[in-house]
Amino acid sequence: MNDVALAITGASGAQYGLRLLELLLAARVRVYLMISSAAEVVIETETALALPKQNAEAQQRYLAARFGAKDGQLSVLARDDWFAPVASGSSSPMPLVICPASGGTLSAIAHGSSNNLIERAADVALKERRTLILVPRETPYSEIHLKNMLTLTRLGAVILPASPGFYQQPKSVSDLVDFIVARILDQLGMSQRLMPRWGESGNEHPQGNTQQDAHKE
Ligand SMILES: Cc1cc2nc3c(=O)[nH]c(=O)nc-3n(C[C@H](O)[C@H](O)[C@H](O)COP(=O)(O)O)c2cc1C
Repeated sequence: MNDVALAITGASGAQYGLRLLELLLAARVRVYLMISSAAEVVIETETALALPKQNAEAQQRYLAARFGAKDGQLSVLARDDWFAPVASGSSSPMPLVICPASGGTLSAIAHGSSNNLIERAADVALKERRTLILVPRETPYSEIHLKNMLTLTRLGAVILPASPGFYQQPKSVSDLVDFIVARILDQLGMSQRLMPRWGESGNEHPQGNTQQDAHKE
């Protein structure tokens, strides 16, 4: 796998998406990144990043520098970039991760709205039967949320809620973030050593995160 599309929407938990971006870039994956307007607000609220607003090129420069991306490795796509590869089924297939995924975006995808590039990219992933990983963050869930998630899982999307487990005895917020990011990397088929695997040594006596990387398969 060489390319991954990643969308960060306006649910709480921007850290999940940003950590995933960091690890994908470190693993030399080419990343097509989409950031919703609401996600910009959440990133500003929840993180120390000074992400430029409403400007994909400036965001690309900022994030590439921040995470040490190689030249051409990171493309930040504008919300109406209908000529981006993710906007068409005739492009090279790549998995799409929406992390975190807001209830609003889940609804739009479940109903095929395609009103912005993130929704269109998900619509393409579903119609082409490509990997679509959705990381919702909401609590409690309404019947609408649950119905939309049921619709989406039946269509082949993976619903991977941002609900970290605690059996690794997390010592920090980063450990909780890495728990979810590790599960996403597993779904992408990428090897990762963010935490010991269940049934392997390390689970019986949790050590926290000793290795912090992901690898392209
Ligand atoms: C700080 C903050 C936290 C939010 N947390 C959530 C959340 O956890 N889940 C959710 O579905 N929406 C959350 N929202 C509301 C969404 O951002 C809002 O519904 C928005 O329209 C989603 O748009 P998007 O899907 O295009 O990003 C939050 C908004 C803000 C500003």
